Amino acid sequence: MTQKDKLTLESRLVQIGVGRDEQTGAISFPIYPSATYRHPAVGESTGYDYTRSGNPTRQVLEEGLAELEGGSRGLAFSSGMAALTTLFLHFSSGDHLIVSEDLYGGTYRVLDQVFEKFGFSASYVDTTCIEAIAAALTEQTKAVLVETPGNPLLGVADIKAIASLCRSRDLLFIVDNTFLTPILQRPLELGADIVIHSATKYLGGHNDLCSGVLVAREAELGERLYFLQNTTGAVLPPKECWLLIRSLKTLSLRMERHCESALQVARWLQQQPKVTAVYYPGLEDHPGYELSQTQATGFGGMLSFRVETAEQACRVLEKLQLISFAESLGGVESLMTLPAVQTHADIPEAERLRLGVCESLLRLSVGIESVEDIIADLEQALS
Ligand SMILES: Cc1ncc(COP(=O)(O)O)c(C=O)c1O
Repeated sequence: MTQKDKLTLESRLVQIGVGRDEQTGAISFPIYPSATYRHPAVGESTGYDYTRSGNPTRQVLEEGLAELEGGSRGLAFSSGMAALTTLFLHFSSGDHLIVSEDLYGGTYRVLDQVFEKFGFSASYVDTTCIEAIAAALTEQTKAVLVETPGNPLLGVADIKAIASLCRSRDLLFIVDNTFLTPILQRPLELGADIVIHSATKYLGGHNDLCSGVLVAREAELGERLYFLQNTTGAVLPPKECWLLIRSLKTLSLRMERHCESALQVARWLQQQPKVTAVYYPGLEDHPGYELSQTQATGFGGMLSFRVETAEQACRVLEKLQLISFAESLGGVESLMTLPAVQTHADIPEAERLRLGVCESLLRLSVGIESVEDIIADLEQALS
């Protein structure tokens, strides 16, 4: 075993691409914008033929992503939705998918308004309850897709238990690991088959990059996903690959700060008379608190909270000064959204209300500004 094999995840992240450009010794692996590659002779290749099929910068990133999640193959896409869409193309007409009901509205939209037309259906269930998943299984079920913690209510699903159920029924188990990242939660090691990310969020981390990731545990499945990626073509361009490599190097530091600050903000919010509920898995009274500690090493930087009325929620958003009222999450800058009218607007109203995603619910992505400043901004916005 070499010293490199013994490195911690944090060190491996920092070292992505270092020493890979043998010609120059560049520490920051270069961007290769070339769309195509010259062949040495007929029937010979440098290993690169055409950039959609393979690109040196993307390769360094994809190998880094596979290592980060503990999988055999990583694939980088032009957005999280491109990653999910490519993944859904693995399924056929007649197949059925079980999906978390507490999930990103865009995932719901692509399943409901695009794939449904092709006869690929989905059931939305409370995946924090293993019995609910088991009850939704049909002869046609081919996979279970879980977002954990959920979005926006932060419910926690039992990854090991779902993996075991999926194994016993020969189902693919897919985890959207966007909220926690492999620094805090490693679904493939807990039995999932595929991890998906909106790398626009924590992996990118700076609100300046749109990208998505798939990582497969087994090589054969990875090969199938690569076939779909190359065939349908929503690859991440080389400059964005470089930017994502650059961002990954600070992921563990950023996650540490996001977690610390989110916990402090959640505890502070709990004390505020105008706040009627706080959803954060790191709070002792959160239903997923115990489970989180068995399958993750941190609670993440995302939390949601409820105020008394929809009007009050609007006032909070309008009064924010440091925190931006904006979609997205996971960047260094704190962002707040109103899920009912933004990220989750495509979920039918009755369904949203049943879940509790109403217009008095606010979602906060706690950034890495000083926590005192974040709390001060919340204090003046709630006043
Ligand atoms: C949990 C989750 N998964 C997937 C996506 C889709 O990713 P993207 O916006 O990069 O297409 C999002 C976007 O907000 C998300 O929050």
